[in-house]
Amino acid sequence: MRVLEVRDYQDMSSIASKIIIEKVQSKPDSKLGLATGGTPIGLYQELIRDYRKNGTSYERVCTYNLDEYVGIDPEDPNSYRYFMEKNLFAHINVPESQVHIPDGTVEDLEAECKRYDDELNRREGVDIQILGIGSNGHIGFNEPGTSFSSHTHIVKLAETTRKANARFFERLEDVPTQAITMGIASILKAKQILLLASGIKKAEVMRRLLTSDEVDEQLPASALKKHQNVTIIADEEALSLAK
Ligand code: F6R
Repeated sequence: MRVLEVRDYQDMSSIASKIIIEKVQSKPDSKLGLATGGTPIGLYQELIRDYRKNGTSYERVCTYNLDEYVGIDPEDPNSYRYFMEKNLFAHINVPESQVHIPDGTVEDLEAECKRYDDELNRREGVDIQILGIGSNGHIGFNEPGTSFSSHTHIVKLAETTRKANARFFERLEDVPTQAITMGIASILKAKQILLLASGIKKAEVMRRLLTSDEVDEQLPASALKKHQNVTIIADEEALSLAK
């Protein structure tokens, strides 16, 4: 894993955006693995800025999101589908038919996981996967203890994760208890992975990730140590305990 230490959130966003933009310009039919949450919002803003200024086209790009809540309608402002529309898709020219996000509203959730995996498997892995990291080390919604050989599956969200995400909801009770997430094995199929981390809240988990060689299912992000092309772009605060 290569670690790029940057000053702050803005630098993290701008460096990550340059990598994505270069990829899309050199490979216009790139497959991008995308994340939600607070971490990638600045990166998405940079992509939008570049799209408006330089016209980088997403017409042939396909996107695959990591996860979606169970039981939240795509039109609901709390769904990850809505988040992606608001923060990225509505502002660039990626065709809707090329956007892929698990559907957490279907009756047969197992079938939906299989459908999503089949969709991912039809490709040879995304070109670049963007990841944030939970303070418990989760990637996607793969909470501690998730098997490293997992594919898309349904998860029960850890209470710490529900609390961390409650900031996007009116009340903690409104935060769903389940989600569909790409598994660790699905994530590791990406050709290149960018893990972004910013702020003091991520310092402890970055310390755990970076100060030992241990690869342990209790720290889902440690699975990334098995991948050949991972770049961590993290700011000074996030790396403050990892020195
Ligand atoms: C989001 C996702 C999660 C987040 C993680 C960090 O699609 O898969 O793993 O990346 O929870 O969230 P933030 O960025 O809000 O700190």
